[in-house]
Amino acid sequence: MCGIVGYIGPRNCVPILLEGLRRLEYRGYDSAGIALVMNGKFSIHKKAGKVADLVSLLNAGNSELNAQLGIGHTRWATHGEPNDTNAHPHWDAKKEIAIIHNGIIENYLAIKTKLLREGHTFESSTDTEVLAHLIGVMFERTNDLCSAVRMALSEVEGTYGLVVLSTRDSGKIVVARRGSPLIIGVGEGENFVASDASAIVEYTRQVVYLEDGEVAELTTQGFQTMTIDDVKIDKVVEEITLELSQIERGGYDHFMMKEINEQPETIRDAMRGRLLLDEGDVKLGGLTDVMERLLKAKRIILNGCGTSWHAALVGEYMLEQIAKIPTEVEYASEFRYRNPIIGEDDVLFSISQSGETADTLAAMREAKKKGATVLGIVNVVGSTIARESDGGVYVHAGPEIGVASTKSFTSQLTVLALITLMLARAKGMSREDGKVLAKELASLPDKVAHILKQTETIQALANEFKDVRNFLYLGRGANFPVALEGALKLKEISYIHAEGYPAAEMKHGPIALIDENMPVVFIVPRDGIYDKVISNIHEVRARRGRIIAVANEDDREIEEMAEFVIPVPRTYGFFGPIINVIPLQLLSYYMAIARETDVDQPRNLAKSVTVE
Ligand code: G6P
Repeated sequence: MCGIVGYIGPRNCVPILLEGLRRLEYRGYDSAGIALVMNGKFSIHKKAGKVADLVSLLNAGNSELNAQLGIGHTRWATHGEPNDTNAHPHWDAKKEIAIIHNGIIENYLAIKTKLLREGHTFESSTDTEVLAHLIGVMFERTNDLCSAVRMALSEVEGTYGLVVLSTRDSGKIVVARRGSPLIIGVGEGENFVASDASAIVEYTRQVVYLEDGEVAELTTQGFQTMTIDDVKIDKVVEEITLELSQIERGGYDHFMMKEINEQPETIRDAMRGRLLLDEGDVKLGGLTDVMERLLKAKRIILNGCGTSWHAALVGEYMLEQIAKIPTEVEYASEFRYRNPIIGEDDVLFSISQSGETADTLAAMREAKKKGATVLGIVNVVGSTIARESDGGVYVHAGPEIGVASTKSFTSQLTVLALITLMLARAKGMSREDGKVLAKELASLPDKVAHILKQTETIQALANEFKDVRNFLYLGRGANFPVALEGALKLKEISYIHAEGYPAAEMKHGPIALIDENMPVVFIVPRDGIYDKVISNIHEVRARRGRIIAVANEDDREIEEMAEFVIPVPRTYGFFGPIINVIPLQLLSYYMAIARETDVDQPRNLAKSVTVE
C-alpha cells in the first residue's frame, strides 16, 4: 500500500525514482509524485493516475531534471480523493521540507486544528500534509531535520513509513517506520530507501530492515539508525536474494498470467527439500524449534486476510481431518478487536503473502501478547510477520506482483499440506499412509501443468459469459473455500459481482437469484460428498441456472448436467483445492481480458494492505 523510493548519491536520481515507482506500482496506483532537490531548491511533480501519467507530465515539461537527491511515491488513497493535490510529496508551510508517507496519522485532525489556529493553511485533504507542517514547526525550533522528524513523531498516533527531505538541511534523507515497511538499500557512496526491495534491487542487494519505532538518517556516505528518543541502534546489513527477472513480466502480457503459469514450479518450490517421499514425512526447518509446542497445542488458529484467509479455511480442513488437531480460522481484522480468549496452549499461524498486512500483523502481535506461540506462513522473505514470529515456513513462491493473488494461494495451501502431514506423522500416522500422501503431493505440480493447457477452452468460456452481471460459485468441504476464492478472483479483476457459498447453503438464500441469467460455477470433484453436490446442481438446473462445473476428467455423469465442464485431474480430497482453483484463476483472468479491465492493477485495490 503506497510505494516509497528515495535516493542520495552521485547519480541523477530521476530515472532511479521513476523506475522504482514503476516496480512499486503494484502497491498502490492512484497517483504518483517525486520531489527532487536541484541547486538547493525543490522541484516537485505530482499527478493523479498511474506512474505513466507522471512520466508523461515530466516529459511534457521543458526543463531537464537532474538531481542527486530525491524521493518518489505511488499512492493508494486513504485521506482525500486521488487527485494531483492530494498526491505525495507534501510540503511544510515554508516549503522547505518535502515528505512522502505510507500509513495513516490517526490524530491528524487534532494536530491540524491546532496548526490552523496557529495560522497554517493546507492545500490537500491528506493527513500527510499535516505531518509535513508539524515537522516544519519542529524544524524551526531545532534546525536539524532528523531531530525535527523525531520530535514531530513523538506527537503522532498512527502508522507511517515516512521519508523526509529538506532544502535547508539538504545532505540527507530522514526516514522513520511504524507499521509500514521500509528498507534502507546500502550502496557505495550512495544510499537508497524503499518500501520494498523490488525498487532498489537493480542497484544494491545490501539492505537494512527498519523496525517499528526506528528512525534513520541517510547521507551519501552511510546511515545512522536510532529510536524516536534518539538512542542509537546498530543494525545488521542483510543480503537479499531477489532476482530482477523475478519482478519482470518475462514475455507475458500480465504479471497475473505469468504467476498463474508459474504454479507448477512454485508448488514444487514450496515442497523442495521438505517433502521426504521415502519416509512419507516432511521436514520444516522453521518449525523445528517449536515442534514440541505445536504437538502439545490444544488448538491451532489460522488467520489472514483476503486470499490468505481462504487458504486458512482450506488449512482448517487439512489440519482437523488429517492431523486431528482442533483448528479455528478467523479474519485477522476481526480477531484483533474481539479480545479473543487465547493462551499458552494455542498456536497461531499468520498466513500472509506480503508478511506486511496490517490486520494480520496486529492479530499476530495480539496473540503473542497473550502468550500464544505465533508462527508465519509467509512469502516475502524478511517481511515483518516473518521477523516477528516465533518461527514459520516461507512459501517460496517468488515475488507476486499481480494484485490478485494466485501462485501465493497454491503455495500457501501446499505449505499447509506439508505442515499437516508433518504433524500427522508426529502424532502417529503410519509411514505407509504418510508415503501415500507425500506421493500425492509430489504429483500436484504435473497436474497443475496439465490444467494450464486448457487456456483456450477457458478463454472461450469467458467470452461466452463476459457480459453477465452476477456469478455464483458453489463448493462443499475443502472446496467451499475454493468457491470463495473463485468468486473473489472474479470480483477483483473483472468487477463482476460474484458470491461464493457452501453448495448446500444455496437454498437458504442465493437460490432466489437463480434464473436463466445466472451462471453457477460448481466445484464438484468425485469425493465423498459428490452426490450431495449433484443434488444441488439439479436444484439450479430446475430453475434454469447455467451450470459450469469444475469436475474430474473421468466424470461422464457431469457432462449430462452441466452446460460447460472444466476437467481437472483427480487427487486426494483435501489436496483438491490446490488444483481445482487453477481453472477459476484462468476464468477470472480471461473474463477481465474480455472486459478490457486492468488485470494487474484493478481499480481501488492494492497488493499489500498496510493500513487498517
Ligand atoms: C490484499 C490483496 C489480496 C491479499 C490480501 C492479503 O487485499 O489484494 O490479494 O489476499 O491483501 O494479503 P497478504 O499479503 O497478507 O496475503
